[in-house]
Amino acid sequence: MRVLVSGGAGYIGSHTVLKLVEAGHDVVVVDDFANSKPTVMNRLEGLTGQHIPLHAIDLTDRDKTEHLFAEERFDAVIHFAGFKAVGESVAKPLEYYENNLDSTISLVRAMRWHGVGTLVFSSSATVYGDHAPVPYQEDYTPLEAASPYGRTKVMNEHILSDVARAGDGMRVGLLRYFNPVGAHPSGRIGEDPQGIPNNLMPFIAQVAVGRRDRLVVFGDDYPTADGTCERDYIHVDDLAAGHVAAVEKVATLEEPVRAWNLGTGEGTSVLQMLHAFEKAVGHELPHEIGPRRPGDLPAYWADPTRAHAELGWRAEKTIEDMCADTWRWQSENPQGYPDA
Ligand code: WQD
Repeated sequence: MRVLVSGGAGYIGSHTVLKLVEAGHDVVVVDDFANSKPTVMNRLEGLTGQHIPLHAIDLTDRDKTEHLFAEERFDAVIHFAGFKAVGESVAKPLEYYENNLDSTISLVRAMRWHGVGTLVFSSSATVYGDHAPVPYQEDYTPLEAASPYGRTKVMNEHILSDVARAGDGMRVGLLRYFNPVGAHPSGRIGEDPQGIPNNLMPFIAQVAVGRRDRLVVFGDDYPTADGTCERDYIHVDDLAAGHVAAVEKVATLEEPVRAWNLGTGEGTSVLQMLHAFEKAVGHELPHEIGPRRPGDLPAYWADPTRAHAELGWRAEKTIEDMCADTWRWQSENPQGYPDA
């Protein structure tokens, strides 16, 4: 298939580009580098040995998006592009709604106009809200989320589902990720957050490489085994493989829309993750216990049964793999990607 990957220079997008090429697909990337660096494209070309066409445009620009689809032919789209910081979305809700909804609408308009019927959307476990029973299952309703960022995921799911159900042949796969971590085993591509990391794994990695003094563990009085929150961490390489399986499946779906959880089905606590990372690095890492972070749920993980049954996919990498690969990436690229 010839697949357009929006946000293909981003963390999950770049790993998916690599897996698509390895699976024999033709890939075209669209990315405006709002939260990624052009160097990623060079690294991807080094890893694949192939030229990967790039369109450096903002998808909220409808004319440019239309022009892209007029110029190129695609069989499918995987849509990652979007703002993704939970805290920032609370401070800048309008920017989040505008960017994350406009880009989807613009993309889907162009797809329909040019007869591209297969779309895989980058969604999140955040759409299960605060009340879904654990493990999370795809049938759960109503979808809700606790932040503007999360609500853009819920809204995009509704927009895409409505368009697909309107019945002109569009097929949509919604991939609900749990907590993506890790990096490509080569150490050449990985997560490169701008500023202070919001998420656990990149924060620990930056402590390990000396960019941060210590990890603050957000609360140790939760009703879990060691008192710290539990999450379903999934290796980004497994996640990327899930996208390849999904895009191939969605092209042949009978129903217009289908959601799949991409997770391992297992919870890992903050302290377990910290200790696993210490093992990968070979020494202890400074940390202290701080207050709870508002909005955090004590524990949740995926029921990944449906993705296994329908996509033939399951997560294979362990917490040890996630830590070893993150550490390889971070220690070989202590400041992340270079600018040029
Ligand atoms: C994991 C655990 C923290 C940082 C977020 C989004 C979610 C999804 C994935 C995209 C929690 C603890 C963290 C730190 C800590 N994004 N922690 N100290 O919150 O599960 O999910 O990213 O869709 O929507 O909400 O991930 O990595 O921020 O936190 O103790 O410095 O680590 O409290 O228990 P989270 P996270």
